Amino acid sequence: MSLVPATHLDPSRRFSSVEHVIESLRPNAPTYVVQPKLLQAKVTEFLRGFPGWTLYAVKCNPSTVVLDPLYAAGIRDFDVASLEEVALIRQRYPDASAYLMAPFQPVGAYETAYREFGIRDFAVDTEDALDAIFDETGGEGLTIFVRLATDNDDAMFDLSSKFGADRKTAVRLLQQIAARGAMPALTFHVGSQCEDPAAFTRAGEICEDVTRQANVSIQTVDVGGGFPCPYPGGQTPPLDDYFKAIEAFREKQMFGPAVDLFAEPGRALVAEGVSLVAQVILRKGNQLYLNDGAYGSFMERNLEGAAINYPIRAFRENATGEIRAFNGPTTDYTVFGPTCDSCDQLNDTMTLPADLKRGDWIEFGMMGAYSNAYASNFNGYLPKSFVVVGDPEELDAAGTVVAL
Ligand SMILES: Cc1ncc(COP(=O)(O)O)c(C=O)c1O
Repeated sequence: MSLVPATHLDPSRRFSSVEHVIESLRPNAPTYVVQPKLLQAKVTEFLRGFPGWTLYAVKCNPSTVVLDPLYAAGIRDFDVASLEEVALIRQRYPDASAYLMAPFQPVGAYETAYREFGIRDFAVDTEDALDAIFDETGGEGLTIFVRLATDNDDAMFDLSSKFGADRKTAVRLLQQIAARGAMPALTFHVGSQCEDPAAFTRAGEICEDVTRQANVSIQTVDVGGGFPCPYPGGQTPPLDDYFKAIEAFREKQMFGPAVDLFAEPGRALVAEGVSLVAQVILRKGNQLYLNDGAYGSFMERNLEGAAINYPIRAFRENATGEIRAFNGPTTDYTVFGPTCDSCDQLNDTMTLPADLKRGDWIEFGMMGAYSNAYASNFNGYLPKSFVVVGDPEELDAAGTVVAL
């Protein structure tokens, strides 16, 4: 099984800034610039503020160049969605815990997860998935989280339309889990990029209701992901407001302070610590063609409901070969990716410097979430280059520079 997406990272190359990256490499392939210090600052904020266990959602960015700084900053628990992610975490961080929280798995996956990788924590939203877990694992020593549907009205991306049991089903599932000798627990996802902490309060009320109706004892409530990144133009409350809302529902609700809280942040931990340096490859009037696009790092921006702006800087090589940031007047462009497909076009226009031309670079900030994780190799254009920015002492202390 191939565990790690192929990346081009030269561990001996360290850069002091994005400008330094462009100056040194003049990258003509899309390049992710990872800033371990920023990643680690987010982890620290989350670990200090969240009143429970923090499980990083590996799906959001599974690159080891990103995972290693998270681990170095103290992440020891991972929300995994597939055997591939389980294997990655088990091999790279043998002392960490992994929780298989996707509510269904391919045939045979529960057995492999349980027997080969020692996974004991699973999520379900149907009786079929519950049966499959018991059939494939034998059922010894399990904690099974019932995934509840919650309203996702305050989020950019709905995560309750595909998954999530209604209250009646959740009550039945909790009772069956307890009756079959496993530990019942609860989980939900308020939707990704959720801009209202009250969404967690409302979801907590559903947890309380189904627990009371099921009349079972709940040891763990996993509040999922959804914690936002402060993209430009958004309305993003500080993470602390979310932590307070979650702590309040624990104190107010029937669970009492003894219940363990889990969170599965993805975007909030990694978005800000990675930017993307893309290059202009063609311009036709206000149509701009980049070396990365809808089938690559910008796939999430094109999803239904997405309204994501990135902080942007443009760079150009001047006549004497120096790299300079430039701005000046802006204009709205229709942006295309590099493939032969007409669908490789970004939704909505982007406002960028008016005099962009072939060879210029654009740094898109806050690109750490669902970028390389979604990108495809369509037409051979998989974005796969990563570089690390930070001073060598910091990088060594963080243990982040790794050969792949
Ligand atoms: C089960 C689960 N947990 C956590 C996450 C991470 O969510 P976010 O990136 O919004 O924090 C996701 C995202 O799809 C998910 O499906």
